Amino acid sequence: MRRSFPFALLLVASGASAQKYEGLALTPPMGWSSWNHFGCNIDERIVKETADAMVGSGMRDAGYRYINVDDCWHGARDASGAIQPDPARFPSGMKALADYLHARGLRLGLYSDAGWRTCAGRPGSRGYEFQDALTYAAWGVDYLKYDWCNTEGLNARGAYMTMSAALKAAGRPIVLSICEWGDNRPWEWAKPLGHLWRTTGDITACWDCVIDHGTWKSWGVLPILDKQEGLRVHAGPDRWNDPDMLEVGNGMTEAEDRSHFSMWSMLAAPLIAGNDLRSMGTVTRAILTNREVIAVDQDSLGVQAFPYRSEHGVQIWFRPLSGGDWAMAVLNRSGEPRSVTFDFASEDISDGHSGREARFGTVEYRVRDLWAHRDTGTTSRPLAVTLPPHDVLMVRLTQIR
Ligand code: GLA
Repeated sequence: MRRSFPFALLLVASGASAQKYEGLALTPPMGWSSWNHFGCNIDERIVKETADAMVGSGMRDAGYRYINVDDCWHGARDASGAIQPDPARFPSGMKALADYLHARGLRLGLYSDAGWRTCAGRPGSRGYEFQDALTYAAWGVDYLKYDWCNTEGLNARGAYMTMSAALKAAGRPIVLSICEWGDNRPWEWAKPLGHLWRTTGDITACWDCVIDHGTWKSWGVLPILDKQEGLRVHAGPDRWNDPDMLEVGNGMTEAEDRSHFSMWSMLAAPLIAGNDLRSMGTVTRAILTNREVIAVDQDSLGVQAFPYRSEHGVQIWFRPLSGGDWAMAVLNRSGEPRSVTFDFASEDISDGHSGREARFGTVEYRVRDLWAHRDTGTTSRPLAVTLPPHDVLMVRLTQIR
């Protein structure tokens, strides 16, 4: 017995023993969150109507499952310390909401914070972690996004370890979405604790802007994409880098939305829609339900894309897929149309991280355009495309046997 104690310590220290519920996110989570469009202005009617729209729009059948109520659902704690939903916004309670979603094949996500208060000033979970986890489990919650506001003096790894242990002890499989914005390099310690971790500050619906809010900044699609550099080696099934929720349908152009959705899928990012599903138009719906792009995001190999070439504002990315396929994205970051030629025959793609290679000079692949939904040729001929500003070409390459 005397020898087992240091051994157990060693296991924890090396991260070898996962304390989270394992296997809940073997592919990146897909769903919707209230925050990007509604902010604090959320209630049970909107959430139920969103669930109905998720079913009616075909999003559920395309793979979206989680309906995540972000900040501001909270009321006060009761005399025993148990957290209550805001009685005006959620009069039927969270158990009833979970039942409503479960009856439609959907799952409920809630939001809390490791500090005393959430970012919007609602009660946080600090000091109530085990009690809150029991409450969530009793309500039938399936996903917890756990934020990092008002945590001065707290150790991030310790705080997330506490909530991870609390969820495990509560006995219900609940996905833990770690939201500390990458400040404490969660990719180095969060794998045994959570299923995904934010890598950056908050996204905002613009292509290439940074908005300074004084004490914090929010970021457009390109700055967030660039902040993912070097992180791909940390992601994989059940442990995903999270470049934040989607802004598709929230005001960018169609090309920008298409590029945003394509690149998040290349990155094996969680696909958490952030628009008003109840009123979205056909273009937005077609982007969010593109099953061929979603299939890249959800690929079981779980390896993120890497940038291969960058020239004149055009980036070419490759992502190895299961079964020997590859996804390729040609992204026009610039504000001008760009003509691009890529002669496969003279390129050898090699990914040290996954150990995968594509020798286009000797092996021929079929090329399928995932936005046009058609086969456009093979890698025996150079790929040539003219891309409008901020637009993307995304193709899947399948070996011809
Ligand atoms: C932080 C998070 C956001 C959102 C808000 C809610 O900024 O990063 O994603 O949850 O808090 O207040």
